[in-house]
Order: sequence, then structure tokens, then C-alpha cells
Amino acid sequence: MENRSLPITWINELKSKLNIVDVVNKYVKLDRKGKQYWACCPFHIEKTSSFTVNEVEQFYKCFGCGVSGDVIGFVKKIESIDFVEACKRLADEVHLPLPEIHEDKNIAILKKRKDTYLNILRDAARYYYNNLKLPESKPGIEYIKLRNLDRATVTDFGIGYSLGWHEVVNYLSQLGYSKEDMVGSGVVEVKNGSYYDAQAKRLVFPIINSYNEVIGFSARILEKADFAKYKNTAQTLLFDKSKTVYNINTIKKLKNTEGLSEIIIVEGQMDVISLYRSGVRNAVACMGTALTQYHAKELKRFVDKVVVCFDGDSAGIKATLRSLEILTNAGLSVYVASLPAGVDPDEFVLKYGKDAYLELIRNARYWVEYLLYYYKGKYNLAKPEEKSRFIADSLAVIATLATESEKDVYLEKLKEMTNISINVLRDDLKNLINGKAPATFGVASDSKADNSPENVALLRENAYVKAVKFVMAALLYKKTYATLDVNIKDNLKNGDYIKIYEYIESQTSMGNVPKVSSIFDMFDVDNNSDVYDIVNFEFDPREDNDKYYRDCVATLISYGLLVKQNEIRTSLDNTSDMQLKMELTKQLQEIITKRKGL
Ligand code: UTP
Ligand code: MN
Repeated sequence: MENRSLPITWINELKSKLNIVDVVNKYVKLDRKGKQYWACCPFHIEKTSSFTVNEVEQFYKCFGCGVSGDVIGFVKKIESIDFVEACKRLADEVHLPLPEIHEDKNIAILKKRKDTYLNILRDAARYYYNNLKLPESKPGIEYIKLRNLDRATVTDFGIGYSLGWHEVVNYLSQLGYSKEDMVGSGVVEVKNGSYYDAQAKRLVFPIINSYNEVIGFSARILEKADFAKYKNTAQTLLFDKSKTVYNINTIKKLKNTEGLSEIIIVEGQMDVISLYRSGVRNAVACMGTALTQYHAKELKRFVDKVVVCFDGDSAGIKATLRSLEILTNAGLSVYVASLPAGVDPDEFVLKYGKDAYLELIRNARYWVEYLLYYYKGKYNLAKPEEKSRFIADSLAVIATLATESEKDVYLEKLKEMTNISINVLRDDLKNLINGKAPATFGVASDSKADNSPENVALLRENAYVKAVKFVMAALLYKKTYATLDVNIKDNLKNGDYIKIYEYIESQTSMGNVPKVSSIFDMFDVDNNSDVYDIVNFEFDPREDNDKYYRDCVATLISYGLLVKQNEIRTSLDNTSDMQLKMELTKQLQEIITKRKGL
């Protein structure tokens, strides 16, 4: 959360005096259609309206670029001013006197420091880039040629070269930056009191965020060496590799100009650049780290569909398997494109060309199907015992799917692959979901047995995450079928959701109507938060949402019981006290009975 030095009661009063429809109308012409107001989004370029204002809930949202917020957030964003400034302007309009503002000094200092780092990073990036014009940069230029990059690509990515250990330090000193700030920005490192270029003698790739700011570097060594090929900026105030997606700036630009239907995720930044050079510009990579939920969230801001295209080696396959759960949990529709063994996207596109690569992307398999084929390759289906393990693995994946129809599609596929009747498979699936049979999920980590309770819980998590989001959104939007229920509250595993639940609960108990726009005061919704998914939940216009809601609540309760069950099992394994063992066994039985009854 940003600096909120204004008291919340004052902010609430301000908001109660404003109508977001009137405020937005001063900037963009809103058209009323039913309960919603529509306009072309002022925050991205578009021809048809996807920007809406919800008058009842007092917030805006763009279905095109994903921005959303309350009335203050709107003014803040459209005027590019900070929160307090936006409040001041709005208060002025409705003649609300300002409260005494206590500027938070620490936050002001932090902001200033960030600005300095951004300036240093930008100046350093320009410096490295301009180096390429110098004859001393021959090794870098030769290497760029070797990798088949053209001038336009080098410019678009801002690729540059570091001449040595001290040049950038001297250059930045001339511009008046302190050594301390250089180190803080990550451009420079210090050892035994001597300051040196963290990218020394390497080819330098700026890492740019979606606001087109340089936040760090990745630097490649040019000659063969024993140490790491790429060196990334260490964690700084601005750069956190677990949250940074390489090439997200291009993604944003594509989305705002020509539109974007999917993002391709590759392993290395050279893959991204090489694809771009060949005309495939919608690829991204993580910066030398495994994909995280933050990366997934960031991608979800721009698209609903991703294609994972990792290297065609065992490490690439492993990384693919690990990424599927994270990506699907973020609500993305996930496909996997397989490369030939031992090839990365860079090599593939250089060898076979853009069209062949796009063909590969077009032929990507939906993640469930990908897993089914992956398991098929792992087992010899001619052997009965391996065939049943194949089925168990596959069912464990199918069990995570949210809808019955989706499950059916893949049961059908499994039937084709195994020649086992669909009814038998359906029964097995039911037993698995009801916890009667141990499940194996081959994707699970190496250290744990495949059918360990943790892994069973893990595979159920996917369905849980989907269910909990729907339930929370239905409550927040006051759907008629959604009511507060302690069984829901008890099974919320996410602190933010508990906070939202408690907000709804307290408002309801005071006889107030909870407002979606209040959520924007409680959280930094624009950020990579789970709250974003709730506030921006898109309800299917289907008729049986009430039934679906009940199913989701049941899923929540069932998952809660499963987690409990696993905890008891663990305690059972860890105690030798007979009395306790008996007590725990009794509890376990009760839970199992409850789960069956759901
Ligand atoms: P790769 O080795 O697959 O990258 O590592 P690449 O793009 O094919 O490299 P080239 O073609 O040899 O130039 C994938 C990613 O892992 C990170 C980098 O972000 C790289 O893009 N990595 C790799 C590191 O951070 N450090 C390393 O030493 C190696
Ligand atoms: Mn490569």
C-alpha cells in the first residue's frame, strides 16, 4: 500500500460525496447500457468500448487492459498524480475541507531513492548501448553478429556492452551520482572498498518493466568460462527476479496497439530476443529463476492464454511440469508447445524459421492433454501394473478440473488411450475425489512419495483456488445466492480473503451494504494481488450460478477437511502415545465420514 497519510474516515466521507460516474464523465464520454456505463478506455488505445463504470459499486474496470480502481484511483491514474494529490483535487470539487496531512517521511525518502536508482539505471543502460559505437566494443559487436541480431533488435532491447571494470563507475560519477546510490541501484558492486561494474566486460541486456523503466540488467559472458553464463542484478529496491518478466514492456505495447491473444513463455532471454528478431514478438522469459505465482499473475494482467515453450531437454520438461500448476492456479488457460530434444526456441527459429515456429505454437497441447501424453511416455502401457499407474496419474490430474464437462472430455481421451470403459474410469475418478483411493501425481516434487497426503492435497488445491475465488466474489458482489457462512470463513486459507470476509461480515452486522470500492482502500489492488481476481471477477452469465456456488462452498469445506485429515495423519505418524493415537484415529474417522457425506 502506498502512503495513506489521510485518515480513512475522511477518505470515506470524500468518497460518499462523489459519484464515480460524474467524475469519469469529465474525462471520457460514458454510454449507459443497462446498469453499466461504457466508454473507450482512456488508459489504452482501443476502438470498441471495454472500459466500464459500475455505479452501484462505485468502481471502474477495463476488460481490455485490466486496470481497475475506485474514484480516487481513477483520478490518480488519469492525471498521473499521487494518492494524496488526487484526494485534494476531488475534495476541492465537493468543498470538503482537508484534514491535517501528516506526510510520512520514510515513504518520501524511499520514493526519492527509487527515483535516483531509476535514473542511474537508465543512464547506465544508455551508456552501455552507446558503447557499441566504439571500436573497443569489438567483442560485443562480434558476438551480436554471431547471434544473428540486427540493429533494430539491438535498439529495441537496448542491448549494450560493458568495456571494463571501472568505466561505468567513472561515467556515473561524472553525472554526479554517489557510489552508494550506484550500489543501491545494483549497477555497481563493492568489494573491499573498491567499486566495480557488476556487468564488467559482458554483453548487457537491460531488464525493463511495464512502465518502460530499466530496473536491472542481465549480462552475458562472451567467452567460455567456469562461472555463470548470465549474471543478473541482485535483489534491489526495484528489482526482484521472482516478480520480473522479461519483455513485459513489449507485451504491454502489443496489447495497447495491435491487440494480443496469447503470450509464449520461454526459458531464456536470448530466446525472447531471437524470436522477436524473427517476427515473433509476444514471448517472455523469467530472469534465471523458476516461474512463480507472481510471474503468472503479471501475465494474467495482459492475457488469458499462455503457451509454455521451454527447452526440449529433461530440465525443460521438469520446468514445464512445475509451471503448469502455478499458471493454471492464476486462472490462465495453459498450453504446452514441445520442442525437439536438445533444442531451445532460439536455435529452432534460426534453423527452421518463423512459420515453422508458429506452427509449433499453433499445435501446442492443452495442459491436461500434455500431461496425459507425458505420463503415457513414462509408462509401458503393455504392462498391466504400469497401465494402472498411468491411469492413476492421469485421473489425479483430471480430478483437479473445475467442471464435470471438462472432466468428461479428458476421461474420453483416457478411454481412447487405455481402452478402459468410460464408466469404470468415471467410478475411479469419483473414488479418488472422495478420498477413498490414494492418488499419484507425477508432477509432484521428487522428495515426497507420489501418493503422500501433501501431494493429494496439492492436486486438489487447483479446484479449491477456483472455488474460493468464486465464493468470495459472489459474497462481495452480494449475489442473492451467496450468504455469509462460518463454514466458508473457517476454510479461507488466504489472509487477504479473510480480511475481505470480515469486512463484509462487519458491514452486514452493522446494517450497511458492503461496497466493492472499499476494497481498494484495504489493498493495493492494482498490484499482483489475489484480491485483484476477486474484485475483477467475471461471472459467467449462466443460469445455474446458484448451484455452482453451492458446489464451490462444498469444495471449500471438502478441501478444509482434506487439509485437516492430512494434518492428523502426520500427527499419527509422529506419535507413539497409544492414547493419543486412538483419539487421532477417531478424529480421522469422523473427518472421512464427513467428507463422504458432502
Ligand atoms: P539458458 O542457458 O537456457 O539461456 O538459460 P539461453 O538463452 O539459451 O542462453 P544462450 O543462448 O546460451 O545465450 C535460461 C535463462 O536462465 C538464466 C538466464 O536468465 C537465461 O536466460 N541463467 C542462465 C542465469 O541466470 N545464469 C546462468 O548462468 C545461466
Ligand atoms: Mn540458447
